[in-house]
Amino acid sequence: MARFDGKVALISGAASGIGAATARRFAAEGAAVMLGDINDVDGSSLAKELREGGAKAEFQRVDVADLEQVESFTQAAVDQFGRLDIVFNNAGIGAYGRTPDLEPEVWHKVIDVDLHSVFYGCRAAIPRLRENGGGAIINTASISGLFGDYGLAAYNAAKGAVMNYTRAAAADHAAENIRINAVCPGPVETALTQAILALPDAEARWSAAIPMGRLGKAEEIAGVVAFLASDDASFVTGTSIVADGGVTAVTGQVNFHQLFSPVLGDKGTVG
Ligand SMILES: NC(=O)c1ccc[n+]([C@@H]2O[C@H](COP(=O)([O-])OP(=O)(O)OC[C@H]3O[C@@H](n4cnc5c(N)ncnc54)[C@H](O)[C@@H]3O)[C@@H](O)[C@H]2O)c1
Repeated sequence: MARFDGKVALISGAASGIGAATARRFAAEGAAVMLGDINDVDGSSLAKELREGGAKAEFQRVDVADLEQVESFTQAAVDQFGRLDIVFNNAGIGAYGRTPDLEPEVWHKVIDVDLHSVFYGCRAAIPRLRENGGGAIINTASISGLFGDYGLAAYNAAKGAVMNYTRAAAADHAAENIRINAVCPGPVETALTQAILALPDAEARWSAAIPMGRLGKAEEIAGVVAFLASDDASFVTGTSIVADGGVTAVTGQVNFHQLFSPVLGDKGTVG
């Protein structure tokens, strides 16, 4: 038996990156998958690929910043596959800009797509999960929801709110056997980070700030999401799992080992 045999999973932001990798993972482990995205071309083509691989998969265009579209997308999973068990609220966008330079429209757009979408997704899902006696919701937050970054104020605000909303919603619905958790990826190679990685020296400088020395792969986040969606996580709710190659394991101070070792060598000293 595969972990998700007989289960129906809904995934937003499924046309690319972490959403697409998770759709492939859920399908490979037996789930029927309903994919949603504003990118019809890649979303439909992934659904086709999964069907050709023997999975049950459909795509519906959805703008996650629109409550009615999220309702209709969620209902489509039930109409297509007869039930709903797992919801991955994952679609998201980034935005660069420090506060005085951040246009209010940009701020609102990020909050709409990264935060309001999660509320809409949970609001649509919870009554449908109740009908099966429970289910699992996973919201994509970020390590940017844990601490501040330079130049990402709107994104930090949205992702921080996703994390605390996740805790609150989990508490509200724990007794109904609906588990709600978040995943907090660190830097992952996807379309979202492609533009940054294309800047001169960006990949080397970024990798140097990650203890594991590299960015993550979308599949490495999909594995965490699949754990949270599965019965292996049956007592896990209202929390988040960080998958960041060690970024949040360090304080953000200078690398003392690199600073000291050329002078002091590697032998431990006091003071
Ligand atoms: N890549 C990273 O380093 C990283 C790190 C932490 C968190 N995240 C989060 O992971 C999630 C997925 O990002 P990704 O890295 O896979 O990026 P991605 O750009 O590859 O995928 C995001 C998908 O969301 C879709 N999308 C954007 N706006 C939408 C909307 N309004 N309605 C429906 N779909 C929409 C895009 O079309 C795209 O297919 C996002 O929430 C992002 O904030 C990414």
